Amino acid sequence: MELVVDVTEMQALADKARLEGERIALVPTMGALHQGHMSLVKLARERCDFLVVSIYVNPAQFAPEEDLDIYPRTLEKDEESCRGAGVDVIFAPEDKTMYPERYSTYVNVEGLSEVLCGASRPTHFRGVSTIVAKLFNIVKPHIAVFGQKDAQQAVVIKRMTADLNWDIEIAVAPILREEDGLAMSSRNRHLSAQERKGAVLLHQALSEAKALLGEGERSAEKLKKRMKEIISAKTLNRIDYISVVEADSLRDVSEIKGETLLALAVYAGETRLIDNMLIGADDLKSINEEGN
Ligand code: PAJ
Repeated sequence: MELVVDVTEMQALADKARLEGERIALVPTMGALHQGHMSLVKLARERCDFLVVSIYVNPAQFAPEEDLDIYPRTLEKDEESCRGAGVDVIFAPEDKTMYPERYSTYVNVEGLSEVLCGASRPTHFRGVSTIVAKLFNIVKPHIAVFGQKDAQQAVVIKRMTADLNWDIEIAVAPILREEDGLAMSSRNRHLSAQERKGAVLLHQALSEAKALLGEGERSAEKLKKRMKEIISAKTLNRIDYISVVEADSLRDVSEIKGETLLALAVYAGETRLIDNMLIGADDLKSINEEGN
């Protein structure tokens, strides 16, 4: 496994792999790798010949008051995990390489970047789409793997890839959870013991909403109300949003018909946690059939 920090060197390795007919996969990360990240790496490994994991804490997707400074950086441990998982290259560039002086180009996916997490983090998705666009041009992957954990991010990246005519397959891997249901996240390490206990309510709320759907409930308002009741049961949680949206357009729905995303963001103390559940058209069908 190689650790590459230089853009031209990474591009040369990608060109060589392509020339040799190899299929390149990219798993973009900000490091502090946990099992959730590693499930993406495993999926990517199975679907390519040349596997690149990027590790870069991207300042452009953090607002000034956000947690950029305390974001965990564990490169040595990450290298070990990647080596064990059969990664070919870790691409870990520096800030001065990615955003040199006079840097001024940004990619903004309009309509999808302002809603849900974008409402309270107005510049976040512009930062994400910009860095992912840059990584696409540096690593030149055939396939890039993202996690359903960041559902809105996956939708934004799919839209950007289609809109800009990148010939790159975007794969989305399921959410990996702790035993009690909490979605794995690098930010979970900031939770106090009490916050950690409360954090499990995010998944409980989503599961309860899915159960209500199973009973035939189709009103988004009723689902949101129930999720809010569950989250608010513990005072340590401040709700950012609880939304029921169309899975691809991220538009609010009032009645659940097709593929739907249940998404929420909640603060446990200072730590902002997100979680979601995708309700597929098939889920609704089987739910309907069971209900009838
Ligand atoms: P990061 O938060 O490090 O996440 C990297 C990838 O891992 C994302 O696609 C995310 O959805 C996925 N992931 C995180 N936790 C997961 C879990 N519990 N189960 C499944 N997948 C999980 O997301 C980013 O970095 C950045 O925004 C990035 C795309 C790298 C751009 O800077």
